Amino acid sequence: MLSQLIYVSVRANECSDSEIQKILESSIRNNAKIDITGVLLYSDKKFLQCLEGDYDEIMALYDKIKLDKRHKNVVLITVGMIKERFFPSWQMGSKKINSDYEFSTKMSLSEKKDFNAILKGEKPTESKAIDLIKKFF
Ligand SMILES: Cc1cc2nc3c(=O)[nH]c(=O)nc-3n(C[C@H](O)[C@H](O)[C@H](O)COP(=O)(O)O)c2cc1C
Repeated sequence: MLSQLIYVSVRANECSDSEIQKILESSIRNNAKIDITGVLLYSDKKFLQCLEGDYDEIMALYDKIKLDKRHKNVVLITVGMIKERFFPSWQMGSKKINSDYEFSTKMSLSEKKDFNAILKGEKPTESKAIDLIKKFF
């Protein structure tokens, strides 16, 4: 069952940029083996990740990721079935966003409000998390 999971978490102080490169390297290596694709947005303070693939594989990976000490306060934003992948070409695409979230994407004021809500682990009111994430790629 093709599914998608999005979560937000707080980047640990000890998690340097070179640790993030290690995360991306192991993601690309491991996710290819289990046919998981997705993207990781990160700032100095937060992670926002979208995982796509088989439901059981995603849940097993999410359980593993939650235990990683390089982040904390992992909050599930959404999980559900999808008809097709939003990010089919990335084992794990990534993008750094500014910590003040003054990102230069084409977001309306209400979309920015929703994006900030998601980063706080809250449900967006108008937009879907995936549509906001897509704006960065
Ligand atoms: C924010 C974050 C996102 C991660 N995403 C993935 C991922 O998509 N795939 C993955 O295999 N590991 C991911 N990891 C790393 C795992 O927690 C774990 O360290 C890694 O899978 C171990 O891989 P290895 O056994 O090949 O060293 C992530 C870690 C963090 C902190």
